[in-house]
Amino acid sequence: MSRKKDLIGKKDLSGKKDLIGKKDPTGATGQQTAIFLLLFTLITLLILYSSNTSRESFQFSALKVKHRQPPNFKRVDIRSGYLPVRGNKTLHLHCQRCVVITSSSHLIGSHLGATIDDSECTVRMNDAPTTGYEKDVGSKTTFRVVAHSSVYRVLRRPQEFLNKTQETTLIFWGPPNKLQEGSKGGLLRVIQHTTGPFPNVAAYVVSPGKMKTFDDLFRGETGKDREKSRSWLSTGWFTMGIAMELCDRVHVYGMVPPNYCSRRAAVHKLAYHYYEPKGPDECTTYIQNERSRRGSHHRFITEKLVFAHWASLYNITFSHPRWFQDQ
Ligand SMILES: *[C@@H]1O[C@H](CO)[C@@H](O)[C@H](O)[C@H]1NC(C)=O
Ligand SMILES: *[C@@H]1O[C@H](CO)[C@@H](O)[C@H](O)[C@H]1NC(C)=O
Ligand SMILES: *[C@@H]1O[C@H](CO)[C@@H](O)[C@H](O)[C@H]1NC(C)=O
Repeated sequence: MSRKKDLIGKKDLSGKKDLIGKKDPTGATGQQTAIFLLLFTLITLLILYSSNTSRESFQFSALKVKHRQPPNFKRVDIRSGYLPVRGNKTLHLHCQRCVVITSSSHLIGSHLGATIDDSECTVRMNDAPTTGYEKDVGSKTTFRVVAHSSVYRVLRRPQEFLNKTQETTLIFWGPPNKLQEGSKGGLLRVIQHTTGPFPNVAAYVVSPGKMKTFDDLFRGETGKDREKSRSWLSTGWFTMGIAMELCDRVHVYGMVPPNYCSRRAAVHKLAYHYYEPKGPDECTTYIQNERSRRGSHHRFITEKLVFAHWASLYNITFSHPRWFQDQ
């Protein structure tokens, strides 16, 4: 970023010299020179401006979360935010106590399954299964928040994800061009068709307006425009936002605090997903995504800084690992 500015600055100076040098000896009037200089300055400013706005980037753990008006999760219109996949139902569920079970490996060996299943409402993400992991992650799923990119991974195992708990509500999120009626790829049709035979399943899609609200939330909390900073929101971001809307209190199991991966001593390898023990390492995935400038990436660590901020305002607690000494 600063190197880029330097480069532009240098070009700028030498460019100006060239212009002046050529024009003066040929006897151009001072007016012409002035106009050239003015145009040149304007163009340079334009270049600088556009390079500044399109190249916002993330500095690992250097985010200053703006302490502005806190987001109000309770004053949201649930009806227009979550569109039923079939019919005209409204997402009416409200829970006093929710637990969010992340897909990370931190719960493996925890024997928390029974405690988790005792919770009023449990929230899981994407294709994190419970079969075979019940002892540690429990088996009840009240809500499952699913990214557009995980739709097939969930739907191709209906007995695991659609027919396991008595009542389950799936909430799909994704760009409007992928998940709305008549969109390319027909993802919505596939969801309708696959969930149809399961009367115990309620399925909703995050509405286009609500998707924008999640982007606005990211901008409000980080000061960064999601698209300009080439960030992808994670399913964790949607899950935390949705949990804040639907639950009075939220306890999060298995999410690491923002500084976890930068504390040298604490970093030992741990699978990013408990159900993919040979898969990528959690901290490596977080750090690579957070730092990457090429293409679009998840900002997992920035998102956790925001969650820490929310925890100072709302009823959110974290364990396995614990985030704060007093919880
Ligand atoms: C929902 O749909 C049913 C029929 O499928 C209809 O009777 C009812 O009026 C609808 N409710 C609303 C609020 O649109
Ligand atoms: C759901 O699971 C039950 C057994 O738990 C089975 O009897 C039923 O056929 C399944 N439903 C579908 C639609 O697969
Ligand atoms: C925390 O939850 C309790 C109910 O358990 C509620 O009365 C209180 O208003 C909540 N506090 C905040 C800040 O949301």
